[in-house]
Amino acid sequence: MGRPLSKAKPMSHSEARPGAFGASPPLRGTARVPGDKSISHRALMLAAMARGRSRIAGLSEGEDVRATAAALRAMGVAIARDGAGWTVDGVGTGCLLQPEAALEMGNSGTSTRLLMGLVASHPIAATFVGDASLSRRPMARVIGPLRRIGADITASPGGRLPLAVRGLCPAVPLLHRMEVASAQVKSAILLAALNTAGVTRIIEPVATRDHSERMLKAFGADIRVDGEEIALTGEAELKPQQVDVPADPSAAAFPLVAALLVPGSEVRVEGVGMNPGRTGLFRVLREMDADLRIENEREQGGEPVADIVARHSTLRRVDVPPEIAPAMIDEFPILFVAAAFAEGTTRTAGLAELRVKESDRLAVMAEGLRAIGARVEESADGLAIHGSGGAALAGGGRIDPRLDHRIAMSFAVAGLASAAPVTVADMTPADTSFPGFEAMMRSLAA
Ligand code: S3P
Repeated sequence: MGRPLSKAKPMSHSEARPGAFGASPPLRGTARVPGDKSISHRALMLAAMARGRSRIAGLSEGEDVRATAAALRAMGVAIARDGAGWTVDGVGTGCLLQPEAALEMGNSGTSTRLLMGLVASHPIAATFVGDASLSRRPMARVIGPLRRIGADITASPGGRLPLAVRGLCPAVPLLHRMEVASAQVKSAILLAALNTAGVTRIIEPVATRDHSERMLKAFGADIRVDGEEIALTGEAELKPQQVDVPADPSAAAFPLVAALLVPGSEVRVEGVGMNPGRTGLFRVLREMDADLRIENEREQGGEPVADIVARHSTLRRVDVPPEIAPAMIDEFPILFVAAAFAEGTTRTAGLAELRVKESDRLAVMAEGLRAIGARVEESADGLAIHGSGGAALAGGGRIDPRLDHRIAMSFAVAGLASAAPVTVADMTPADTSFPGFEAMMRSLAA
């Protein structure tokens, strides 16, 4: 068995940090995971739009959220870390300043799309640049509605980064019917609406995570949700808040699935966000017979949270209904890993969106799982995975995570239940959402 995880060497950010992940002894204990990434971005942005000092506890300190903080600072918002968490001195809606340089978005689609919305209704212009992964991702879905409120947007070919947004103030309130099920697009429009006089209406036929709606309400915005319609009255005066960010269910998924796969394991994660728009993976895993217990359910700052305990389980195949996809859109890579160890064939469909995440997650997962000995069929919008029935996979592959944090962490977990170590060519992408991932996993195996 030996060491389950290679030691992370301190290296400069641009250097690759390879990881080798081999058969693990039982994983035990409480896993500490970062604050929810989606909620963290929104907490910084809404605190920036309130007038006065907000405090944020449990903020994600991954690179994606840091990119949002840096961009807000560049637009005049003071953001600082102290012993109790983070403070944000909000400037009030309409008061963002012209940034002097391009906004560096790194790998973060959420930072980009949501901040484009904020800028779109301010009398400023901002250029957005990102890494190779982000520069391949489609922005037309957010450019379209923001142009309709009056923003002037110049994008690279294919509606991609680098792109420049010149906001219009006053902007035009929109009636928008969502074409893609995307919380990022919805949130971009809501953030633009904050500084837009009148009522902005969004029709959302397929529900997506509602963190923006919940937090806007908490900050005092006039926002109403009635069935498929969301209406926000603009020129909002937001009041500073204390935000307690729950643990990220999308990050908790990695140690929890690792515990399901490694014999003898029992792992607990506390204070995990249980917003129904995020918990699809846990529901699907339970349908696969996973021993996953949800304890101590409670509310924290307008979001449901709970403690989750996972024990090693023999998983059964499942057909994942496409309707559940928005509630687990970031969890398919780790679900595919779980399926590769289950009894029988797990089938998924309706997942074309996965091809435009940080990587093409259908293609990269299919290729990587085959490289470690799984049998996988790829279709245009899903994977069929023939599970090992609980037996170790061969392992031994070398995975290029293609700048995608969830691919890197998924194959790290797969390695822990494989015969030969799985090498992830570069674990630095994990730092975008889960700094300290490898150390946390090592601590569970100690
Ligand atoms: C997010 C929404 C999802 C998700 C992303 C974060 C958010 O994207 O994949 O990681 O914070 O709103 P889409 O809404 O584009 O599907």
